Amino acid sequence: MIIGGSSSQDLAAKVAQDLGVKNGKLEIRRFPDGEKYLRVLEDVKKQNIVVIQSVHHTPDELFMEYLLLVDTLKDLGALKVISFFPYFAYARQDERFKPGEALSFKTISGLIESVGTDEIYTIDMHGHRVIKLSDVFKIPAQNLTAVPLLADYVKKTCPMQRPLVIGPDAEAEQWARIAAERLGTDYDVFEKKRYGDRQVEVRPRKANARDREILVVDDIISTGGTIVEALKVLFAQGARTVNVACTHPILAGDALRKIREAGAKNVIGTDTVPSPVSYVSVAPLIAEQVRKAGLSGTS
Ligand code: R5P
Repeated sequence: MIIGGSSSQDLAAKVAQDLGVKNGKLEIRRFPDGEKYLRVLEDVKKQNIVVIQSVHHTPDELFMEYLLLVDTLKDLGALKVISFFPYFAYARQDERFKPGEALSFKTISGLIESVGTDEIYTIDMHGHRVIKLSDVFKIPAQNLTAVPLLADYVKKTCPMQRPLVIGPDAEAEQWARIAAERLGTDYDVFEKKRYGDRQVEVRPRKANARDREILVVDDIISTGGTIVEALKVLFAQGARTVNVACTHPILAGDALRKIREAGAKNVIGTDTVPSPVSYVSVAPLIAEQVRKAGLSGTS
């Protein structure tokens, strides 16, 4: 049975349909003081359950809902709970950079385990220093990537002459490489310096965008600052067109407007974070992983 939390209802329905299994229902509301009420409206006893909950924009609330849900499922006799966090917040703070800071990643991972989650999957998680999720979680944990789906969509809908793939910073090399392989072309990454939450500077390395059609690939577009700076560099070099793709279109504030005004031809994201540019669904990625885990025969 697939159960989506309140942030991932549509995605859960798509995954359930793809697998031909039941999409379990919940009742979620608030008490007048703001406290969340959650009720599982299914018989989950001896069932394997796949929970999908993307924790974007209001992560505190959505993590709390997740904890209530999984604790309840286990209490009601569910066998295994396999959880997918299409967008996983709280991965940034995996170190104490300044004295006294919370190690948020450690706290959250401990809570996820404490309610009885059996396995966890994330998608293009924003954890720069964490090489493997299994270094953080004691339960089986894996980070999947949506970039092949994004690249295939770009190939089909945005034909490019002499394409070049650019990652806007060193971390984006992993995604640029996959997209370039999919498009059968070359890639490079920029060097990025961050001066604050909203201020960044990017510089090109070897690749030259002159007369090329560009695809910029990143995990997240948040304020859009990184992409806008990349667009400036690419157009200054003489790029013919620039398409932009990301897994998580957070698009805080007027990020989308800024990116379009900076000249992006198309902006493409996935539905890990529902947005006006969520053209690509990660449902097939999740469904494939559920099949691999051998759970899709249970409904
Ligand atoms: C950073 O390291 C990420 O990969 C993204 O480049 C970054 O989070 C994007 O943020 P913004 O859109 O605010 O520049």
